[in-house]
Amino acid sequence: MQEVASTVMERCEQLGDVSEEADALTRPYGSQAMREANELVSGWMQGAGMSVSQDGIGNLVGLYRGTSDKTLVLGSHLDTVRDAGKYDGILGVLVALTCVQRLHDRGERLPFSIEVAAFADEEGLRFGTTYLGSSVYAGAFDAEHLNLRDQDGVTLREAVRAFGGDPDALEQEGRGSGNLLGYCEIHIEQGPVLEEHDLPVGIVTAINGQSRVGLVFDGKAGHAGTVPMEGRQDALCAAAEFVLEVERAARAESGSVATVGEVATLPGAANVIPGRTELSMDVRHPDDEVRERLRDHLKTRAQEIASSRGCDCEWRLRQETPAVRTDPDLSAVLARAVEDSGMAVHRLPSGAGHDAAQVAGLTPVAMLFVRCKEGISHNPAESVAQEDVGVALETMGRFLERVKEGLTLP
Ligand code: HGY
Ligand code: MN
Ligand code: MN
Repeated sequence: MQEVASTVMERCEQLGDVSEEADALTRPYGSQAMREANELVSGWMQGAGMSVSQDGIGNLVGLYRGTSDKTLVLGSHLDTVRDAGKYDGILGVLVALTCVQRLHDRGERLPFSIEVAAFADEEGLRFGTTYLGSSVYAGAFDAEHLNLRDQDGVTLREAVRAFGGDPDALEQEGRGSGNLLGYCEIHIEQGPVLEEHDLPVGIVTAINGQSRVGLVFDGKAGHAGTVPMEGRQDALCAAAEFVLEVERAARAESGSVATVGEVATLPGAANVIPGRTELSMDVRHPDDEVRERLRDHLKTRAQEIASSRGCDCEWRLRQETPAVRTDPDLSAVLARAVEDSGMAVHRLPSGAGHDAAQVAGLTPVAMLFVRCKEGISHNPAESVAQEDVGVALETMGRFLERVKEGLTLP
């Protein structure tokens, strides 16, 4: 299995060079790099005996026919964050593809077909909302998102069209749940738990819910040298006080995480008091009620902080995704496959979002986590051990066997 694992690692390296930036891995939705990544993966899918199609938003779907039209979907995403690691999303697509390659090399057909879905946008780097690709695939696309603009003012509608799709058809592009057996996503853990337990793989129990918000603090630009400190309406200072409140409130709420990852301040000159500051905010928790309560608290505090500083604050809710539990029956089959591979079964929740959260609206989902070094992710230092990729491949091969058994048992 290690030889097959080395092919997966080499392909992760290859895709790691397909980027919009010369010295970092950045592959946003609808970019030239995404086009090149789709071409590369499409060739590998064809080499594995799959027929390949691309849907209206740019999801790449490989189909490996079985002896019935019942279908198991495997997959993950091909887009990345800015200055990303080489394995987030990509590893899941390539392990899935390699499982099919092994069937194809043996000339084996299963009593079900396998679809490998390589989603076009999970991270939301360009338009700020996550799961654009898998929401179309799952028939849950929100057409409101077509009006979102990227930092160059290009709308998602324009970007979909430029990538070859019809934006007005996306709501009807869902795959449909007919004949689906389920969906299984392999993904790096992006956390330290498997490393702490010295385990190569783990079974995901749930995916935390997320609130993604955009905030705009408006104050009054002014001369840095002549406006007294008293009475300034400094939009950046208001935003800064809010950012620390986000950190304080999340620390006070056990199990929650909250992050301000994007900050832009205008006009952005050293001798001008900032008149406007725009922020992103990402709030998560395993329990939706707790997350919503924390989100609402922060909305109130944003207004209070702004008005205490003579500023205005606009709150733009970008996206809400509820927490999702993985399917216990499909996860039990995956757990058996982990045992078949000679590994201990460890179950853990996911703080990170995954396409499985969207596909769960279509069919039962299960997820296999793969240990990653020090849990580092969304960082070029992200790394996995080839041996652990070998275990994931072995486990997924066993998983297909178990699904086959389940189908053929009376
Ligand atoms: O943000 C997330 O959790 C995922 O990496 N998109
Ligand atoms: Mn990610
Ligand atoms: Mn991911």
